[in-house]
Amino acid sequence: MAKLGFPFTLGVASGEPSADGVILWTRLAVEPLHASKTGGMPNQAFSVKWELAEDAAFSRIVQSGAAPAQPDWAHSVHVRVSGLRAWTEYFYRFSVDGHTSPVGRTKTAPGPDSTEPIRIGVISCQRYEHGFFTVLKHLAAERPDVIFHLGDYVYEYGKPANPQPGRYLRPLESTEECKTLAAYRRRYARYQLDKDLQAAHAAAPWIAMPDDHEVRDNYAGLLPGDGSSQAAFVKRRNAAYKAYYEHLPLRVRPVGNNLQFYRWRPYGKVADFLFVDARQYRSGRNMLGTEQQEWLTTRLTASTARWKVLAQPLFFAPRKFPLEPPSADAWDGFPDSRAKVLAAATGDLVVLSGDVHNAWAAELGNGVEFVTSSVTSRPPSTDGSATLALNPHLKYFDGRRGYLMVTASMTDFTVDYRAVAFVDQPGAPVVTAAGFRVLNNKLQRTDL
Ligand SMILES: [Fe+2]
Repeated sequence: MAKLGFPFTLGVASGEPSADGVILWTRLAVEPLHASKTGGMPNQAFSVKWELAEDAAFSRIVQSGAAPAQPDWAHSVHVRVSGLRAWTEYFYRFSVDGHTSPVGRTKTAPGPDSTEPIRIGVISCQRYEHGFFTVLKHLAAERPDVIFHLGDYVYEYGKPANPQPGRYLRPLESTEECKTLAAYRRRYARYQLDKDLQAAHAAAPWIAMPDDHEVRDNYAGLLPGDGSSQAAFVKRRNAAYKAYYEHLPLRVRPVGNNLQFYRWRPYGKVADFLFVDARQYRSGRNMLGTEQQEWLTTRLTASTARWKVLAQPLFFAPRKFPLEPPSADAWDGFPDSRAKVLAAATGDLVVLSGDVHNAWAAELGNGVEFVTSSVTSRPPSTDGSATLALNPHLKYFDGRRGYLMVTASMTDFTVDYRAVAFVDQPGAPVVTAAGFRVLNNKLQRTDL
């Protein structure tokens, strides 16, 4: 067999940290955007060697092994490492056919009795054609303990016939909207060739929750949202979920028509992170589906952690606009589901969300919400000041692209809103636009 070209073109990643393990990820793709052959790879399985070390120079390797990269899974590699020490930094790399991957840094979660503070980066909405991933580059440089991605990791759209100014800054690999497995795979490859995205993956373990654009705009459960055939949509959704799995360090694979995204990640005595799926189980007025809603109620009620953190894509607090009606696609369209969540939370609830492409903060009565802006996706034309004036429980608005840097400890929950002034060219510096501390379910500015 001819020697393989360099196959680690899409970088490396890790995710789903537990106190004793983590998932390591890569994907072999010698020509990631190849038009007909997935990743430009031969139609055969490869055995990929992996190594995990205590140091970036790999002088203290603690585990190693081999994992399969199969054509049916786009030659993606998911290694389930266990037996690690809690709350410990590790470095990992892969090799195959004489090629070695870049090195990634990861960190396990703290053990059940830990009171160590946790630093979390929070991001959402990275539309490739809308600009440069400068936000991800700055986030990577902070080397947080863990990164939460709250949806719209890719956008399914093709190139518009007449793009508006500033809305097609970087060319996609195709002019077509993604509908097939091959198309979604090439879309992920287009994104993951970006060096800033690769840096963010290599900097810290990720826990990711998709929103709608990983499949299709505003889909709900098994309904496409545009009145087209349900059977065709289920096929499309399955292709989209499979591609999502193939490109992210997830712990579980899709099974049948499902990919379980909702999950609990405990971080010692400090925080219980509850990742909530706001799309897959929607029906009627029910956003989460009966099973997930019961799971969430049980988890919220049983949690003894200092902070109960709900990580999910959609704007949670009620929000009136000066001109338009409230968003029917977010929690405002599902008031019964929202009321159930708030009733199960007994205080010290923190909701982390994204989706709206601007930064917000809100008080919820027995909790608070921090909404991260987009990485690049263009915001709607929102009158921030007028909306704040209409909604006294909303405490903050910022219209720049950015991310959240969260620190959770036994005494404090603080959030810094990082922002960049532009993404239409690379190189924007990062600033801290605002800082907040949570005090008895209220928000207090730390930067004024
Ligand atoms: Fe978005």
